[in-house]
Amino acid sequence: MATDAEILGRDHVDDLQAILSVARADADEVVHAVADHADAIFTWDYEKGRRPALEKLYEKAKRAQWNGETDLDWSIEFDREEQARQMIEPRLQFLEAKGVDLAHSPLASWGEAEWLEFGLEIQNWSLSQFMHGEQGALICTAKIVETVPWIDAKYYAATQVMDEARHVEVFAKYLDTKLDGHYPINVHLGLLLDDIIADSRWDMTYLGMQVMVEGLALAAFGMARQTTPDPLLRELLRYVMADEARHVAFGVLSLQEFYAGLGDAELLERQEFAFEAAVRMRDRLLQQDVWEHMGVDPKVVIPILQVGDKNQDPFQQLLFSKIVPNCKKLGLLDANDGWLRTRFDTLGVTQFEDWADTSEEYLDLDAVTADREAAAG
Ligand SMILES: [Fe+2]
Ligand SMILES: [Fe+2]
Repeated sequence: MATDAEILGRDHVDDLQAILSVARADADEVVHAVADHADAIFTWDYEKGRRPALEKLYEKAKRAQWNGETDLDWSIEFDREEQARQMIEPRLQFLEAKGVDLAHSPLASWGEAEWLEFGLEIQNWSLSQFMHGEQGALICTAKIVETVPWIDAKYYAATQVMDEARHVEVFAKYLDTKLDGHYPINVHLGLLLDDIIADSRWDMTYLGMQVMVEGLALAAFGMARQTTPDPLLRELLRYVMADEARHVAFGVLSLQEFYAGLGDAELLERQEFAFEAAVRMRDRLLQQDVWEHMGVDPKVVIPILQVGDKNQDPFQQLLFSKIVPNCKKLGLLDANDGWLRTRFDTLGVTQFEDWADTSEEYLDLDAVTADREAAAG
């Protein structure tokens, strides 16, 4: 059994200085190669519908295709600066209420202009990370088409490849036409995507991408959709979420069958992988890249701004509200005497275990069908 230190590369899961010391090895690269260590699998069993839940998803996906160029109204304008102010003001009020004194910090000289710029950069950074994550999904799903041995899963994954291409496309277009700067991939997100792609076992691609990364994305997109005042971004996220819910359901429905046949030792490897992925996704939320961009040392400023236990921050906790019930449904929460449950307790997220799992709720999020039915009257 690996120790947490071996899994995470640091002694304590919450060691802030260790988290902020992880640096990208190749910040100026234009392309990034990852060996994917997997055989491409042909199957000669073409019987469609052997796995009815996957066939249903595939048929649904074929009908739910949309076009980012024509189904979204890119002419909508909105006030970015107002949005940035709306995000920054509560943060500053919170810090003041908690008695955080910025007078002796690198932010002592910051006025309205610097905080506004910071808010605008957070928008650039967040949408950039969404876009990079979507490319990770595009590549992972193309790999699943090759590696999964079931024809129903190959069919479904092929539709997801198209979905992910559309997601990369719309986030890139939003960044280019509505915002004003791209960020490179965050180091923690990049390491996670590399790990997922490099693993030779086909189910690990699903667990890392469909269950963990897309589970978090589904929650994050939902929160962004509720809070953004931009009608275009709200609609874009509504369409993307309809696809993502299917993708997460695809992961859960595929892995349920496979994990039912695994023993404790094999399940423990999956639990360790899920834990590592959860921690890396959480570490990304420190937004260290934005501080660096603003010319402020994240190792100095982030500890000053961090009030209380970050694992108890309701916003951070909610990001795991899709992941935890899905892990429970897959048996990963409680296998091996609750190994993963104990870790999720540390991260402050186990309370979501009985929320709806995505294999049940994806139909509710089908924006495309809802809009077509409304249009048909
Ligand atoms: Fe996506
Ligand atoms: Fe996806």
